[in-house]
Parts: sequence; C-alpha cells; structure tokens
Amino acid sequence: MITWNAEKQFFHLQNQQVSYVLGLAHQRYLVHCYWGKRIASFSQADDYPKLDRSSFSPTPAGWPDRTFSLDTVLQEYPGHGAGDYREPAFEVRYADGSQVSNLHYVSHQIVVGKPALDGLPATWVSVGDEAETLTVTLQDPVTQLQVELSYTLFRDLPVVTRNTRLTNGGTTPLRLLRALSCALDFPDSDFEQIQFPGAWARERQQHRQPLNPGITVLDSKRGASSTHQQPFIGLVRPETTEMQGEAWGLHLVYSGNFTARTEVDAFQQTRVLLGINPHGFGWQLEPDAHFQTPEAVLAWSDSGLNGLSHAFHHLYRDHLVRGEHRHKTRPILANNWESTYFDFDAEKLLRFAHNAKALGVELLMLDDGWFGERNDDTSSLGDWFVNRQKFPHGLRPLIDQVHALEMKFGLWFEPEMISRRSELFALHPDWVIRAGQQPLSEGRNQYILDLGRPEVRDNILQQLSHFLDEHPVDYIKWDMNRNMTEVGSFPVPAAQQQETAHRYLLGLYALLEALTQRFPHILFECCAGGGGRFDPGMLYYMPQAWVSDNTDAASRVHIQYSTSLMYPPIMQCAHVSEVPNHQMGRSTSMAMRGTVAMSGNYGLMLDLMHSDSERDEAVRQQIACYKQHRQLLQFGTFWRLVSPWENSEIAAWMFVAPDQSEALLMAFSLVSVASAPLRKLRLAGLSPDARYRLDDGLQSVGGDELMYRGLFIDPPLSRDYISRIWHLTRQP
Ligand code: DGJ
Repeated sequence: MITWNAEKQFFHLQNQQVSYVLGLAHQRYLVHCYWGKRIASFSQADDYPKLDRSSFSPTPAGWPDRTFSLDTVLQEYPGHGAGDYREPAFEVRYADGSQVSNLHYVSHQIVVGKPALDGLPATWVSVGDEAETLTVTLQDPVTQLQVELSYTLFRDLPVVTRNTRLTNGGTTPLRLLRALSCALDFPDSDFEQIQFPGAWARERQQHRQPLNPGITVLDSKRGASSTHQQPFIGLVRPETTEMQGEAWGLHLVYSGNFTARTEVDAFQQTRVLLGINPHGFGWQLEPDAHFQTPEAVLAWSDSGLNGLSHAFHHLYRDHLVRGEHRHKTRPILANNWESTYFDFDAEKLLRFAHNAKALGVELLMLDDGWFGERNDDTSSLGDWFVNRQKFPHGLRPLIDQVHALEMKFGLWFEPEMISRRSELFALHPDWVIRAGQQPLSEGRNQYILDLGRPEVRDNILQQLSHFLDEHPVDYIKWDMNRNMTEVGSFPVPAAQQQETAHRYLLGLYALLEALTQRFPHILFECCAGGGGRFDPGMLYYMPQAWVSDNTDAASRVHIQYSTSLMYPPIMQCAHVSEVPNHQMGRSTSMAMRGTVAMSGNYGLMLDLMHSDSERDEAVRQQIACYKQHRQLLQFGTFWRLVSPWENSEIAAWMFVAPDQSEALLMAFSLVSVASAPLRKLRLAGLSPDARYRLDDGLQSVGGDELMYRGLFIDPPLSRDYISRIWHLTRQP
C-alpha cells in the first residue's frame, strides 16, 4: 500500500480508492504532491513549476538557482522563519531566543499496521494488514529539533490518518509555541468550505461558503471541543452535492482547544491546518523529551457528502470505538431529566421505571441529582456518594428493583467538576483549574478539577471505582457543563502554565482509560451540556453521545443531519420528549418525534410520572417498531437525501441494510406550504437490479427506478412537523 520511489524520491500511499503522494524536493524538503482519487501509477512528483519569484519569495540559503521557495511550494509540515510566510504547522522558541526552524529529510520507515499514540485516543486496527504506516523523520540541522510525521493508510477506506511527534534533539530546553497535527497544501483554491458553528442547544449548524483569500480560523479556546465549533474542516468543489463530486474532510481526534485553519495564498493555493489551538498553548521540551500531537483523520470522497460521511462512519464504527459495546445493539432508555429535574426520590423513580417498562423501555437512566446534597445545580459535584435525603436506604434497592424488572440501570456523573458547596472543595480548594490569584469566573456554580494533576484524577478514579464496585451500574452518562476560564495549574512552574489545558485533556483521557478498562461492561454516553464535546476523542472511550439538550424534533432534524456528516446514527443519542418542547416551546407530532429519535439511539425523555393513554400507546408502537428495525437503524448505511440546510420545507434520509435486503426511508415536513409543489425523493444505496416491496403493498419497484426516478411523497406532507416512514424489502 505504501511505496517509496527512490529514483524519483516520492512516497505513494495507495489503496483501491485513494492516493496520497508526498515527495522530497532536492532530497531535502518534504513536499506535498497529491491527495485524491487513486492514481495507479504516479509519476510527476517533481513537476511543481520552477518560477523565479525570489524577490519576495526567498530561496533557501546556498540554493543553486532562484526557482525554488518555501513560500510557494506545497509542503507537508511547514515551519516558520525560513522563507515561508504562510501559516506554519509548528513554531518553536529556542534557548537563544530565535524562532527559526528549517526541517530537512533524514530517514523514513514503513511498517505494517498502526502504532498506538502515547496517552491519546486514536483510530486503531486489530489485524496488521488492515493498514500500513509511513513515518518520515525530519530534522533541523542547526537546532537539532526532530520531527516525525506519521501517515497511516487504511486498506479498505479512503482514509489517511496523520500525527506528529516533535523531539528536542538539542542540548538546551526549547519551547513549543505551536505543534499542529498536520498541514496540507492544495495547488488551487477552487473550494467551498463546510463547517459546523453552533451554541448550546443549537449545535453543529452546517454552513457552506466559498473559500476566501487570506486566513479563515475555526477554533475552540474553551478547553473543550465545544458546542461552538466542531474540530473539523470540510472542503468541497463548488459543484459537489450530497451524491456527487469531490469532498475532503479533516477531523481531529481530540476533545480540547483546537484550530482548523485555511489559508488561501497570493498564488491561490490553499493551506489547511489542524491541531491543538496555539492560542494559550506552550510546551517546554527538555533535551531528548518529545511532544506527541493528537491524530488527524483525512477522509476523501468523489461521491459527494454521502461518500465522505460513509468513510467517517466506517472508520469510527470499526476503528475508533472500542470495547464490548462496539458492535452490540444499544438499549432503549428512559431518562428522568425532563420529567423530574432534581425533584425525585426512590418511590417516584420506581414508578417511572414501571411505566417505562410497560412501554418496552430497556434501561432506566437516572440523571443529575442523586448524590451528595444535590437538589439543584449549586452543590455537591465532587461528592460521589448517595444523597441520603432522597435515598435513605441508598441506591442499591432501587437498582435491584430496576434489575428485577429486567431493565438495566444507568446513572449520571459529572466527574470533571467540583462545586464550591461540596465536601471535596472544603478539603481541596486548590484542586481547581485556576490562574494564580485571579478570581474564578462562575459557570453553573461549578469549577473544573485540575485533572492534569495525578492526585486529583486518582481521587476521582477512586471515588467512582468505589461507588461502581458497590453498585451494579450498567450505563453511565458522563456530563461536563462548563468551559475553562482563568486557566492555570497551581503546582506547575510558571514556564509550564500554558500546558494546563492540554495536560487536563491528557489527565481526562488517562482517567477514562483506567475507568473503561476497569468496568468494561458499562456502556458510556458522552454528554457536555448536550453536544459540547461530541468529538472523536471522547468517542474513543464512549461509543455514543448526547447530541444536544435541544430535544425539539424540528431542531433535531437539522442537528442530526449535520452530525451525520461525521458520525453514524448509532453514536447519536436522541430522545422523544414532551410537547410543547422544554427548550423551544414548539409542538411537533408524536410521529415526527419518534422518527427523529429512531434515527439515532432511540430513548425517551417523556414525563413518565404521568400516564397519558394516547401518548403511551403511540410510544409503545414506536418502541415495537424500533425494536423490529433496530439492527438496520443502528448498523445500516445512512444516506442523506434532502438536506434541511438547503431546503426549508422538507428533509429526508434513509437507512439501507449492509446486504441491501431492506431499507427505511424517512421524510420530515418542517414548514408546510399551500399548493405545494410535488415532492419526489430519489433513493440511494439500493441494489439497482433488485425489486423492492414498499411497506405492505403488493407492488414491487426496481431499485434502479427508486434511485434514478424516485418516489413521490404521496399524499404530500401537508402540515408542519409531521413525518413519514417507508419500509422497503427486497423481493426474492
Ligand atoms: C446537561 C445535560 O445535557 C442534560 O441532559 C442533563 O443531564 C443536565 N446536564 C443535568 O444537569
């Protein structure tokens, strides 16, 4: 899969779908040649035009002519201060105060498989020949900084992953000011960019715009990947659609501050950069010490956004998520949050559990408020023992009763936080993230524990382990409800204060690793005030995540559609909730709420303290339907058909079984229109040669006809917020 052409001095990473080519210019500089559709036999690695622009694009010292400049050439890991004025991938300040780095090729190595990353989540392979990895070593001959660039090509996917390791090969300490995971230079700028800006309850709002000259920065400085952006950057050709055209996606396997940048230079070339946000970042490197960047995933497709999303879905389902739940169907849960908020006790919850059971629910998920003295959000984070006021006999009897109902039991934790009003804070007020004597900004009455410190994360690990040893919990919702401010770490020397945010992430990952190894049976749901840390870093430890605190079905159509560009439905937790919706005040039909929730990991956030026969009957039927199709919905191929980001009136998507034997098509009316135009949906992913029966109808229709001609929505969806499902089965 990976070859080195010694004569022409280039590496070709190639599988049946994709080629990625990088070469050596003048046996020294690592340059980028190509990333896109597979080229069987690549030859032109040295054809970059040799132009004399040396007045303002300087030539490297001692160069024989004026036709080469780092300022214009396409590079793999550009540095700073030696002639390239574009955005660098890394920046170093050396002991003598200089900030110039000039990397030259030293050696390379190609290995079968994919080495793990030191202390960081990353995609993986279980069988060696599923991937090959190239590592290119570069070095600055003056400063002795060493940079190892790793590239893994997956055998069966149009995916290359990259990461970088920087080592101080000199004799004096140095300071990393920037150490990104990857850089990529394209020879043109004929792209549109896709990004996912958002906010709390309005996460991942898909946005597409032409690439502009200059620098565009998408980032998070919040200490978490955040609701405000996704650590992702998409580039598509202007003509690319859901079904056709080229698309490139770069995604960072990291849960903290990140930057995703594009720079269109003076010659209309495009540089893309992805990695830890240099803002607020610094890292001291002693001689021989190294710094490992997070992994960047680079996916490509020439079959539009669907092709791109399928590449990510396969990668994340098969090579990111770990543990025994990876390929297991996920349980239907009922969460008490919007039903009770903090106002519950054992008796109420038992009633809730009985009602849930009667509807077909498989897991009771007890949310915030069961621990310490927690009756509202002003106290007790950090005190992970049972609230005796609410549960005088502890939590064990409730768990046993839920298990006796043949349901599983899930519990909410927010382990990274501490309340001022908590026993833990009284004992360890200095355990919080804090910059010197700066007063702490408030965020939901809580502060962030400095998980970069071993003694802090050991305490949390011990508390949680002790609790989980005594309580047979099957499921954990791991929440995180504020972002970092006044970032600093109490015991760390001044020169290392800017390491705090990344050290926190390393500490969090170490904690999650220890906990998931120790309790492999527990299924984890990642949550951060909704989807505030919905990223591949967290999904390495937790196979599913709460998409958004916004449970309104119409809002969810948008959010889940966007989320599907990167993440498969099985990773997206989606619940049916009451109307009018608690966040939006909007009323949507029960059918639409159910259809949207079934398009992810279906659950309930209904008020099950009160029964409502009509609602309950509808839910019972939905659950029966979901159980019948769960395998298809959780493990089928998801196709994006009509984007709510491009059509204000309707949206549609479908699920196709891996063997194409059946499919579920779903359409949603967002805003109904009087005398509306006819709507026809062109299906996708079916076998063109097979015939499919629609629902229970007698007639069957060819897969080709359904995909190329389409299917009328008949009768039309003539009210706001309603939906329809079609089930298609292949005829023998
Ligand atoms: C934020 C989560 O997103 C909600 O679902 C709920 O768990 C609350 N936190 C509880 O405080």
